[in-house]
Amino acid sequence: MSPQGRSLYAEHLTARQKTTEAALAACGFDALVLSSGAPFTYFADDQDAPLHENGHFAHWVPLRGPHHLIVVRPGTKPRLVRVAPEDYWYEQAPLGSPFWADDFDLHEVGTPEEAWKLAPSHGRVAYIGDEPERAQAAGVTAASCNPETLVARLNWERAYKSEYEVACLEEAETRAAWGHRAALAAFDQGASELEVHHAYLAAVRCTEAELPYPTIIGHDEKGAILHYTGKRTQRDGRVLLIDAGARHLGYCSDITRTWTRKDCDARFRHLVKGMDKLQLELCAKVVPGLPYPDLHAAAHVLIGDLLHELGILRVTGEEAFDQGVTSPFFPHGLGHFLGIQVHDVGGRQKEPAGGVAPPPAKSPFLRTTRKIEEHQVFTIEPGCYFIEMLLRPHRNGPKAECFDWKQIDELTEFGGIRIEDNVLVTASGHRNLTRPHI
Ligand code: GLY
Ligand code: MN
Ligand code: MN
Repeated sequence: MSPQGRSLYAEHLTARQKTTEAALAACGFDALVLSSGAPFTYFADDQDAPLHENGHFAHWVPLRGPHHLIVVRPGTKPRLVRVAPEDYWYEQAPLGSPFWADDFDLHEVGTPEEAWKLAPSHGRVAYIGDEPERAQAAGVTAASCNPETLVARLNWERAYKSEYEVACLEEAETRAAWGHRAALAAFDQGASELEVHHAYLAAVRCTEAELPYPTIIGHDEKGAILHYTGKRTQRDGRVLLIDAGARHLGYCSDITRTWTRKDCDARFRHLVKGMDKLQLELCAKVVPGLPYPDLHAAAHVLIGDLLHELGILRVTGEEAFDQGVTSPFFPHGLGHFLGIQVHDVGGRQKEPAGGVAPPPAKSPFLRTTRKIEEHQVFTIEPGCYFIEMLLRPHRNGPKAECFDWKQIDELTEFGGIRIEDNVLVTASGHRNLTRPHI
């Protein structure tokens, strides 16, 4: 870590201490214990799922692994208890000298039980994590385990990224872009979905378990399955939809590109170009103060206009959105907060103390209903798909005349399009974290 990165991290920790102290005071607590997480063991098995550390723990430190604790008390250096059991079955790498070591009152113990002995045993202690039984055994009351109002305040804060976090997110973009460029090169050579996946992982230089989410790599019609995770071995797809990210120090990128080969239908290629253009138009609209749902509505209108331009819809974008006929083509939200979790927390929160700001009735899957503000990072990911399950009710419905069914049937085999960038909100607009790379 460079001296500059080191000082950004120190500022990040100072901010964590300050916002956490304020949240504890607002909720009537004297201390907070965060645990990194317990492994999930498959039923009747001795295998664990890959651990995704508790986001509130990872907000403080990029220490991987289960059962570690952080103890936060007002006015005191945060305590970090690392659990490093003696074990010859699994690697227990020594801690070494991570860049964050001096920022904590650091302890190393062999078991979770020993770790909890270093947690506060009296006072009004809150616990956030997935092991409330251990917390209660250590004296935390049931009501103080994952208390809603405290969690809400911390979730709210996580939307505003520190400079350290932005630097981590940028590095996650760089790494994912290595993968996306390798994926495109493989696709151009006729690579199968499975081969594209392997090309991606090799270029990012990580294992699948280290990715923020399983890669979505679909040729042709599979691009219309929003979270398609199959990996077919047939080669020579005409369209590649690849949605894949990377991590850096716990922070995620989430990037989608849709590529076509020359033997793909000219109308579909036109749609891809149009989606790329309108995605950038949507990014350009990002400005503090704008409610995110307005951006989502603008996406529907632009996608409707594009479909109208090609004659696939026989009404303009505005009319199409009003009549609900853009939704079968664009059935997901425009985007979500991005950070330690790929679908980061707090996107539908009404205010710091909690409450839910629900999505518009027409767009139940929209994850972001908050007002856009400086320092937020979110995705902008408009999509346009040919999904028979969603189109079918319209074939004989009251709006059937709005659609050119012949063209829809001809284009269905090409699947769908999604273009997804990650953007940082600035004082006057946005900075696209993805486009400089891919
Ligand atoms: N990769 C999942 C998403 O774009 O939200
Ligand atoms: Mn996304
Ligand atoms: Mn994605």
